[in-house]
Amino acid sequence: MKSLSRRCIRAFRLSAGLLLLTLAVACGGGAEPPPPAPAPTSPPAASSASTSVSASAATSPNPTATPTSPAASGSASASTPAPASPNPTATPVPAAPADYRDRTLTVYSGRSQTLVHPLLVAFGEQTGIDIRVKYSGSASTAATLLEEGDNTPADVVFMQDPGSLGILADSGMLAPIPQETLDKVDSRFRSPAGLWIGTSGRARTIIYNTDAIDPESDLPLSILDFTEPEWRGRVGWAPRNGSFQAFVTALRLQLGEDAARQWLEGIRDNDAVDYPNNTTIVTAAAAGEVDVGFVNHYYLERFLEEHGQGFGARNHYIGNGDPGALVLVAGVGILDVSENKDIAVEFVDFLLGEPAQTYFAQQIKEYPVSAGVEPVGDLPPMASLDPPDVDLGNLNDLEGTLKLLRETDVLP
Ligand SMILES: [Fe+2]
Repeated sequence: MKSLSRRCIRAFRLSAGLLLLTLAVACGGGAEPPPPAPAPTSPPAASSASTSVSASAATSPNPTATPTSPAASGSASASTPAPASPNPTATPVPAAPADYRDRTLTVYSGRSQTLVHPLLVAFGEQTGIDIRVKYSGSASTAATLLEEGDNTPADVVFMQDPGSLGILADSGMLAPIPQETLDKVDSRFRSPAGLWIGTSGRARTIIYNTDAIDPESDLPLSILDFTEPEWRGRVGWAPRNGSFQAFVTALRLQLGEDAARQWLEGIRDNDAVDYPNNTTIVTAAAAGEVDVGFVNHYYLERFLEEHGQGFGARNHYIGNGDPGALVLVAGVGILDVSENKDIAVEFVDFLLGEPAQTYFAQQIKEYPVSAGVEPVGDLPPMASLDPPDVDLGNLNDLEGTLKLLRETDVLP
């Protein structure tokens, strides 16, 4: 655990591109890397704090109880660790302020460990704060917090969608975020009451097979039109996927319950092909199993990076304020019962700062939302996406969406 943390931190000290590549290799794999040489620029307090950044399993009832190493709890894929040679261009991490060295910040993360862990480790190292983290899905993290109520040990909640943050905001569990921090992000991407804030953006797109589809002439102007007979058996979707469900919630808000129901029934009756998630839809579209599918934008970017420009699928950004052009955010909130609100705010500011925003852009292929960081690859600029006018603060009726999906037999 300790060596993993140091490796992550060393990576974080390097500047931009190189730094991020190193993070992916060093922190994404399941194999424990060989112990690196001690980092000469680390203040002693920061080094010891990094050992406390732990990854409790989703089933662990208390994040402070049984910390396990990322390797032990199973990261996604094994990979070769990057060489641990010191980099002469590395920027020293500022010494942790003395008054942070015995402080603890507990984070409940609905974002996956593979994506988020390097950031938490880096924040712990930079500040000397002892970071505790509990990973689970966003919906189950919200359920856990509602159950724990005022007794929760969590200071910060980090979610992959605005809906689960909205549930916590509505229940009165989140504290107002200072205006200075809120101002770092466009008001579209944060709670109107300032109770949560987006940290990165994810656009809904139509993935299409490049042999079967000419996006200029073959694709409809609205996602609603995929109910037409010409699309019979050609559409892939993932009704169990959280982002798809958030899209349905937005559709209900934008067009009303009846229109949403009609669309779901129309796609279902058009013999849409069910997939478990976005990755399998993108794979199926590239293989020509389906001609189009409903996904989040960043999956394709990851496939392109791995397979090159010859990969057989691309994203179509439908725009026009259409329901299919929804832009969602992952985001954070601070628990109202937290006694560590000062360092919780510092953590939120860290996520909105340049290194973390660059990490979201380069590693996860999401849209940065602050610090002037630009999206990577050939993503269209955020300003060109033209999403529907839906308040992300109101996407909290997941229950209503699940009910509708069951009533329409889209879900069992
Ligand atoms: Fe996703």
